[in-house]
Parts: sequence; structure tokens; C-alpha cells
Amino acid sequence: MKIEKVKEIWREHFSSAPEQLKKMSEVNGLISAFNANIDAVIKISGSRIEKIISDFKLDTELLLQEGEQSINTVEDSIRGLIKCFKGGIAEEWLIADKEVFDWLNENIGYDKLQMGGQGGIVANVMATCGVNDVYVHTASSPVEQSKLFQNLPNLKNVNPVGELQKAFDIDRSDDVPLIHWIIEFDINDTLVIGGKTITCPKSNRFIGTYDPLNFRLAIDEAFSKKMSEPSTKFEYIILSGYQMLKEKLNDGITGAERVEVSIEAVNQWRKNNPESILHFEIASTRDKVIRKYLVDNLAPKSDSIGFNERELIDILEVIGEQELAGRCDKETSSSNLFEGMLKVFKYTGCERMQLHMFGLYVTLQKKGYRITPMQNRKGMQLAANIAATKAGTGAIDSHGILLWSMDKDVSDKGIRELEDLSNKLSNLFGENELVLSGIFENEEIEIIAVPTILIDKPITLVGMGDTISSISLVGAR
Ligand code: GLC
Repeated sequence: MKIEKVKEIWREHFSSAPEQLKKMSEVNGLISAFNANIDAVIKISGSRIEKIISDFKLDTELLLQEGEQSINTVEDSIRGLIKCFKGGIAEEWLIADKEVFDWLNENIGYDKLQMGGQGGIVANVMATCGVNDVYVHTASSPVEQSKLFQNLPNLKNVNPVGELQKAFDIDRSDDVPLIHWIIEFDINDTLVIGGKTITCPKSNRFIGTYDPLNFRLAIDEAFSKKMSEPSTKFEYIILSGYQMLKEKLNDGITGAERVEVSIEAVNQWRKNNPESILHFEIASTRDKVIRKYLVDNLAPKSDSIGFNERELIDILEVIGEQELAGRCDKETSSSNLFEGMLKVFKYTGCERMQLHMFGLYVTLQKKGYRITPMQNRKGMQLAANIAATKAGTGAIDSHGILLWSMDKDVSDKGIRELEDLSNKLSNLFGENELVLSGIFENEEIEIIAVPTILIDKPITLVGMGDTISSISLVGAR
């Protein structure tokens, strides 16, 4: 079938978006925890990177070396940036040393401050979509942080006396601002270094993070207490913020202990809301011990997990699937990644998982899961629309703008990935209609795949995964 015809069919599928969006305002309560922070965002050009290197006489050899994915020196921060620029990839490295953070602040600066952290981003998106009520956890809520929340009455946090209040209005003035550096770069931009020209193959970002509270998954007691009260009702919990943990933390405790503390808190919250759906967004967890711990201990307790292509490959690496991880890394196609999803599905026993890759979203779930394949597809379509709006307009800060991308078609790239996945399913399970319907099911599993709308020159990409995962889930009704 011609690609134009396939697009037409998907245009018809996508027409359900307004109705799905309306359904989101029927949701009774959602908790988004744990990490919110301030993102200092800057768009950087190849020539600016060249200038930084020459102005500060940075050692080019060090900058081009492979090394640890963490920032201990100024060179490390630029090394990470170059690596991402060169590969067109997204990575987040932790900044160990406050001095390096101060150097970045002084010498690179930022264009704007915006809501950061999966927890904060998800809370804003959910509140804008109309979810009633959204409870957002913050490790720190100085005014600078609170003002990055949407100014909406349905978005709440706890105030200094432990009462629920509009998140935008909260002033826990003794708290410290937690700032992450988001350095974005553009496709086709070039950078000359060590006599070689590097061309950036895909617009993306590098994140340098200095965040002493979220580094140890600090949990606000007052918030936790409020969530455990019988009067707090919710249908979903979206968990994130574990990716900054390390095997050993400064104060002698381990990252694993912090994970356990959080699981206990979540169990308390759920006591009065046992039917709630628990989703865990895995994010880019650099520390392999923690990554494995999360896959072994948190993913199996979750009703749903979400990851992008890189994060999936990272999971494969720690569950004894190095060969497949290598193959996915070399050829990051939907068919290879789907094989990876099957492995993670089996390994964790988690009943629903979603991959958001470039061009395609894929959900794999147990047959008969409480969200039907069609509900999933509609949620994923809505997510594709809103993600495209975010990329195309730069911000999704009013309800009215959410469906800005409604007149756009799904991408060629997305359809190619969908075809690739459909072929894979033919090999594994036999004939299927995936390309046209986006749905395949057999006795054991249900697979839902949705090609996405791609925006040529995205204004922003940060927070895309969080937006996609949460809308795909909560918009699936
Ligand atoms: C990570 C970053 C945060 C960013 C978020 C987007 O949590 O630390 O700064 O906002 O990813 O997904």
C-alpha cells in the first residue's frame, strides 16, 4: 500500500484526540513523584562550542576521549556535550563538584528557566490536560521552583505547614533551588575539533545535573503523609527520579536503601487507593548497580513502565542481554528494540511497558490488561499529538494549545518503523494488520504501535519522554 494511503488511515485514527483529551478531565487524582527541579536551558551552536574550547584552552584530546559518564571537571562537561552532538544522542551526566556547576553557570549561562525533572514535567502536563487533582512531590519548593508550575487550581503540593495548596503559590523559602543544565543542539550543525569536522546527525540535548536533594531521592515527609490520608483519592501514581541515584551515596547509605524507602512510602499511599495504576518511568540511569536494582525490584512492582530506545538498551545491558543490546545500539530499529521489549517483559513480569522511540511508540502488555488495546492506541495518539505540539510550539502551557498539531500527518519515518515492526511480528507470530490498525494480539500478549508526528525543527525536546509516557497512559480511557 502507498505511504499516502497509510497516512490517510492514521489521520482518521488520530481524529479521536479531542475526545480523548476530554476524558482526561474525568480522572480523579494523580500523584506525580518524586523529582521536580529547575531546568536552565540553552541552545548551543557548534561554533559556540569551538569558542568555549579555545577561550578556555580546553585539552582537545581529553574532550574526544571515551570516559566515565560523569562530570568531575570542566573538560568532562564539554566532553559529554561533544559526545551527544556527534552522535545526535541524549545523555544526562551528574555533576559531582559544585565548582564545575558554578563554572557552567558563569561561562555558558542559559536562555531560559523552565520546569524540569520528570515528576515536575508530568505534573504540569497532567494539570494542563485537565486531570483532577494532580499532586506533585517536590524535594524543594522555593518560589523560583513553584513559579514554574502551571498556575492552575488542580495542581497541588504541600505548603510549609503540611497542607495541600496550589503548587504555584507555595513558598517553602528555606528550600534550595535545584538546577539542571540542559544544553540543546541542532541537526546538521557542525563543529570543528582536532582538525576534524563533526556534523550533528539529529537535534538532541545533553544534561549536566547538580542536584544534592534529588541525588538521594529526598522525600518530603509532609507530602508523603498527606498522600497516605484516606481523604486523598487518586487513580494513578507516576514515579520517576530514580535515575540520579548511585550505588553509594555520600552519607554512607546506599541508593538501594533509598529505593526501598520510596517503595514503602508508595505502598502507604496505595493503601487507601489499591486500584490505582502505578507507572514507573525508568529514565537514563547511569549507575549500573542502581539500574539493575530498579529493574529487579521496582519494575516488577509497577503496573506499567516506560522507556525510550536508549533506556531500553541500558536495561538489556544489565539483564544479561548484552548481545541484543549491542545489536539495538548498532541498528536502533523497532524490530530490534521490540525483541528487547520481549526480554524485559519476561524478565520483569511487569504487565505493561511502553517504548517511545524516534518515530514510533510501542506498548506491549499482557493479554486482558485492564486498559484495552484500543484505549491504549487512542492514548498514544493523543500523546503523539501533544508531543508534536510541544516540539513545534516550544511549550504546552495552556489547554487551548494542546491540539495544535491536529492537522499534521504521521511521519514517513514512523510508518517505516511500523512496517519494520509488522514484519518482525509476522516472523514471530504470523500475519498481522499492524501497519493499518496499530494493534496485534494473541493468546498471551497485546501489542499497540503508533507512528508519531515529527516536527522538522523542534523548538524543544527536553521532557518529551515524560510527556509521552504519561499521556499515553492517562489518556488511554
Ligand atoms: C532529567 C533531567 C531534568 C529534565 C528531565 C526531562 O530528569 O535531570 O533536568 O527536565 O530529565 O526528562
